[in-house]
Amino acid sequence: MEKLTIKLYDILLCLSNALELLSPKLYNHHQQTAYMSYIIAEHLGLPANKKRDLFYAALIHDIGTLFGSENLEIAETETVSIKYHGFRGWRLLKNFEPLKHSAQIIKYHHVSYEYGKGMQFENENVPEESHIIHLADRVCMAFAQKKNILSQVGSVLDYIESRAGSVFDPVYVEVLKKAAQKEYIWLNLFSRSPIEHIQEQICDATVLSSDETLEFTQIISHVIDFKSRFTACHSAGVAQIAKEIARLMHFSESECIMMQIAGHLHDIGKLAVSNKILEKDNVLEIHEYAEMKAHTYYTYHLLNIVPEFSIIKEWAAYHHEKLNGNGYPFHLSGENLTLGSRIMTVSDIFAAITEDRPYRKGMEKEKAVNVLEQMVERNEIDKNVVKVLFENYDNILQVRKKAQKAALIEFDKFTAPFV
Ligand SMILES: [Fe+2]
Ligand SMILES: [Fe+2]
Ligand SMILES: [Fe+2]
Repeated sequence: MEKLTIKLYDILLCLSNALELLSPKLYNHHQQTAYMSYIIAEHLGLPANKKRDLFYAALIHDIGTLFGSENLEIAETETVSIKYHGFRGWRLLKNFEPLKHSAQIIKYHHVSYEYGKGMQFENENVPEESHIIHLADRVCMAFAQKKNILSQVGSVLDYIESRAGSVFDPVYVEVLKKAAQKEYIWLNLFSRSPIEHIQEQICDATVLSSDETLEFTQIISHVIDFKSRFTACHSAGVAQIAKEIARLMHFSESECIMMQIAGHLHDIGKLAVSNKILEKDNVLEIHEYAEMKAHTYYTYHLLNIVPEFSIIKEWAAYHHEKLNGNGYPFHLSGENLTLGSRIMTVSDIFAAITEDRPYRKGMEKEKAVNVLEQMVERNEIDKNVVKVLFENYDNILQVRKKAQKAALIEFDKFTAPFV
């Protein structure tokens, strides 16, 4: 099998769409901000590479939002604490080479202009692109989404202009006013997929190698897991278990990497599930279970955005399907569930029942074995996969613990207060 390579653009779009699930109130916020930032950059005549890094930064600018709950603050207040989600977004991305500059832009995307003082923050230069995102972000948020868009342009510009110099760079406000005369820009901005209108202009050919894809999906796994303290290292464990079982079942080296990537992403749809449900310590009510059941559906459709993920998507998104057809949400049965999907299912269950949660200890070996045996009995999960797991139980348990310990260190770094 050939080594996996994917387009950076595709995976960023996937992540951007995933971030939208965090708060339905912010419908299309990342795409809108990316579109508006691009329009401003275009009118300013910024060079292509700057436009690209700005566009990518805008597409995921609120990636550092913590626990989902910060979204409302971002939506409703004009000036949010600077050393907050922007800084945390930078923490997530700063070591990922292809997005190094975008990470720096994200770091400062809430710094006010302050008549020029905002070009520096604590002795560091604030990229001009951060100020562009700041303006674009506020412009998008100033519109009432359900009212006629064009009739609001005047009052939105008045609001922005009243803050030219203090909050926003006046040069960019002027550029915005010029662009604002073209109605199509606003209509594009509030269309279903604003960035579709500029996709061809971006035409970025940056490709991620399989190692870079692995590295970036690990960052995404942190976004997924860090949503709740209770799940802060879940995907890290699942990814390593799945990779280890795949290796023991003679998957090729590149397939093992794919399995690890699928593990990183298997719960990406959980960004749509409220923390109240994720953190519940007893059985879910029917309506809560209904919300939970949608998460693998979202995983499937989010991963569908990356064409090279066709196999990974199935391994990742089918982890709640059962061989007897009684799983969710697709109700696939044995003949449609490949070995890769079966491995992921077992890995997810094994991680979930053996890992500690704040409200309960993980199961000891005897109990975990019992649970898995019963599931095999009911023809829910694959007996050969479970056999490999049992034969290598202690080793796989160690693999999980090691991966999760490392992820928890990352979690502490991510949530550490800024001095
Ligand atoms: Fe923000
Ligand atoms: Fe799941
Ligand atoms: Fe999971």
